[in-house]
Amino acid sequence: MSDELTALRDELEGAVLAAGSLEALEDVRVRALGRRGAVTELMKSLGKVAPEERRERGQALNRLKQAVSDAIDARKAALADVELERRLAAERIDITLPVRPAPEGSLHPISQTIDEITQIFGEMGFRWAEGPDIEDDWYNFTALNIPPEHPARQEMDTFYLAAEEGRARPVLRTHTSPVQIRTMLSEPPPLRVIVPGRTYRSDHDATHSPMFHQVEGLAIGRSIHMGHLKGCLIAFCRAFFGVADLPVRFRPSHFPFTEPSAEVDIGCTREGGQLRIGAGGDWLEILGSGMVHPKVIANCGLDPEEWQGFAFGMGIERIAMLKYGIPDLRTMYDSDLRWLRHYGFRPLDIPGLIAEAAE
Ligand code: DAH
Repeated sequence: MSDELTALRDELEGAVLAAGSLEALEDVRVRALGRRGAVTELMKSLGKVAPEERRERGQALNRLKQAVSDAIDARKAALADVELERRLAAERIDITLPVRPAPEGSLHPISQTIDEITQIFGEMGFRWAEGPDIEDDWYNFTALNIPPEHPARQEMDTFYLAAEEGRARPVLRTHTSPVQIRTMLSEPPPLRVIVPGRTYRSDHDATHSPMFHQVEGLAIGRSIHMGHLKGCLIAFCRAFFGVADLPVRFRPSHFPFTEPSAEVDIGCTREGGQLRIGAGGDWLEILGSGMVHPKVIANCGLDPEEWQGFAFGMGIERIAMLKYGIPDLRTMYDSDLRWLRHYGFRPLDIPGLIAEAAE
């Protein structure tokens, strides 16, 4: 290649390498290889070259053209890589999630205890039922075999609401038992329900709150007997307190809506002023129960000769305090954040029969 062509090649390759963008590179290409480009013009002038030099000059020009063209292609690829890197960096999207902060809320021991109770009875085939907090006298008392002059009405320290035209005076329900009546009236037996809910009595001290919670249970069928009641409640007590050999005692008692009636005690010890649930010779009352009174069954339009069943009721605060060692009932309603942090539960912890029994 002549000096002239070598100089041109060096110049053009230098311009190609110096092109900092695809547009600048295109300018260099047009300047070299375009219709009026330096290399193109030299090609055009080939005709004026003496015939004996033409062949060699033609080959040299072709090599020059090829060299410049290769340099442009290489530079183009390099610029495209740079451009891609730039775009990848500029358009980068952060697809990582920030670390999830630990949940701050916790479940109140009453909610947790309701979850645990319904979980355990749910595994025994009981389903959740509910009734209104403002109840008719008939559901709260009369249908449960507590007639107008019955002493149980006084014992319950009822909150009465203002009477309405043509309607008996409504009450804030004193127990969850009226939901037994509502359930039997609204669906055909056999049935098994568990009824957690708020209850109200005009009573306030370290162990009583005017609003508290109960859970009612009801099982109605054609051949349910006292053995079913005992088996069911023994299994519940052992699962709930997580003590596989927990002693459970049935003590004769009286409720107007059950016959016979039994109060249920669980074993405990009280050594050195410390209460411990489990075998030990002492007893602690935790719930009331019995076979549903035939009059209650009849009040719900069922034939007591055909349908029998058992019912039970317990105070949720009381068993929560026993299980979780909460000394004062009133702290349950203080909404004190430090108390809730101490006694609260992680929202997704719902222990069941199996988890509890495995302990
Ligand atoms: N309702 C009763 C109360 O509030 C508790 C109770 C006792 C409910 C015996 C029942 C039962 O279903 O069979 O004191």
